Amino acid sequence: MNRIGKEYNDFCIIMGEPIIEKNVWIGYFTVIDGQGGLIIEEGVEISSGAKIMSHSTEWRCINERRIIEGAINKAEISYKSVKIEKFSFIGTNAVILKGVTIGHHSIIGAGSVVTTDIPPYSIAVGVPAKVIGDSRQFRDEGIREITPSKIHHSDIL
Ligand SMILES: CC(C)(COP(=O)(O)OP(=O)(O)OC[C@H]1O[C@@H](n2cnc3c(N)ncnc32)[C@H](O)[C@@H]1OP(=O)(O)O)[C@@H](O)C(=O)NCCC(=O)NCCS
Repeated sequence: MNRIGKEYNDFCIIMGEPIIEKNVWIGYFTVIDGQGGLIIEEGVEISSGAKIMSHSTEWRCINERRIIEGAINKAEISYKSVKIEKFSFIGTNAVILKGVTIGHHSIIGAGSVVTTDIPPYSIAVGVPAKVIGDSRQFRDEGIREITPSKIHHSDIL
């Protein structure tokens, strides 16, 4: 697994081989599924309880394949890669489904279910998640002065 600088807590479940870039924060009780391919870019924050899924087994289930074959056949699992672009924020208990790209500097609201790509600088909320605004409304003039060495993770839990 490529975890560049492990800067997140141990109470997350990481499956497969996600690429997690530097200065990523991953909160408590999250599920990070890299089985179908997952890139989490620099500076992303994933709040507690969020789930990022790059696989799904509904086809195998409704076709009774797991019972028929008596074993897990990976060929019958649907995989699609997910990308969370840099400096995006994933709210608590949000779910990101397989195949989705979250554009950079986006905000995904608490409890949202993201089923389609989200453009950069979006604020997206709801089930399914819809873009309701531009994240640059949250932007601070001082943003460029913050360097990773000055960020304390205890401040952003
Ligand atoms: C997405 C978020 C940042 C939006 O904040 P905001 O810009 O101040 O938005 P507002 O509160 O003005 O809400 C705007 C609209 O979106 C709706 N909305 C806001 N967050 C929502 C959410 N998570 N799910 C569904 N709808 C939401 C509001 O009800 C409101 O709808 P209305 O216009 O019909 O009244 C915020 O609501 C949120 O979900 N933050 C995540 C908090 C979190 O996960 N914290 C974890 C610890 S870091």
